[in-house]
Amino acid sequence: MLNIRPLDAAFGAEVTGIDLAEPIGENEADALRQAFLDHIVLVIRNQDLTAKQYRDGISLFGAPMLQHRAHFRLPEVPEVSRIINREKMRPASMWHTDHTNHESPPKATVLYARKLPREGGDTCFADMYAGLDFLSPESRADIDDMITINHLESDNPTYSEVDRDRYDNAVQHPMVRTHPETGKKALYFHVTKASGIVGMETEKVRPFLDDLLKQAVRPENTLRHKWRMGDIVICDNRCTMHSADPNYDMAEERLLWRIILQGDRPR
Ligand SMILES: [Fe+2]
Repeated sequence: MLNIRPLDAAFGAEVTGIDLAEPIGENEADALRQAFLDHIVLVIRNQDLTAKQYRDGISLFGAPMLQHRAHFRLPEVPEVSRIINREKMRPASMWHTDHTNHESPPKATVLYARKLPREGGDTCFADMYAGLDFLSPESRADIDDMITINHLESDNPTYSEVDRDRYDNAVQHPMVRTHPETGKKALYFHVTKASGIVGMETEKVRPFLDDLLKQAVRPENTLRHKWRMGDIVICDNRCTMHSADPNYDMAEERLLWRIILQGDRPR
């Protein structure tokens, strides 16, 4: 039976008693979608799925969208992309929300553990509703109408020329966005993709964003997920940031299957 239990943490919930390989009833699907909005991160345990079952099962939360870096897509299920500590891919250890170089970035990121190091390799999440509240009154006033300008990182070797042609278009987003389903405001930026801020000198942008992160990410609004095989974690990208902890033996392979779900244009 479906069981949704708050984690022993500032936010997040653990989901047990479902098998995403099987059809999910409407009532259970509604409960999961509501839990996703309420808890902003869900840890779904004990899943043993093919890539196709994973894509089809997780679609109850929304429509999977294609990710840049075509090289990392699974050929047989292209909506599933590999996150791996191989092939020049580096752990995304900075706090960020995903794919802000898209006009309509993904509302959710979903990660499924496939190969784990014996120790470490955790993924951390931060609640950005709370993060916004943690800002000083001065910072909060500064960012109220601020607009970020988003690019693919110039120093990331995993982006192809096709990615740069197609997905690097100086997309603008509000720094404070209103969640389209909950109506609540959240701090919203990707620290390395937001290489510009409208009206700010370029060299001031990164120190400014780093200072915002310092204020907004605290122990009391973060969650450290220690992966177990079979875990699927879904986070709401409209009100969370996440980071990968690179604190593990890189000789060991770490592989997650990632799906991202289509979102709205941030407002
Ligand atoms: Fe990410």
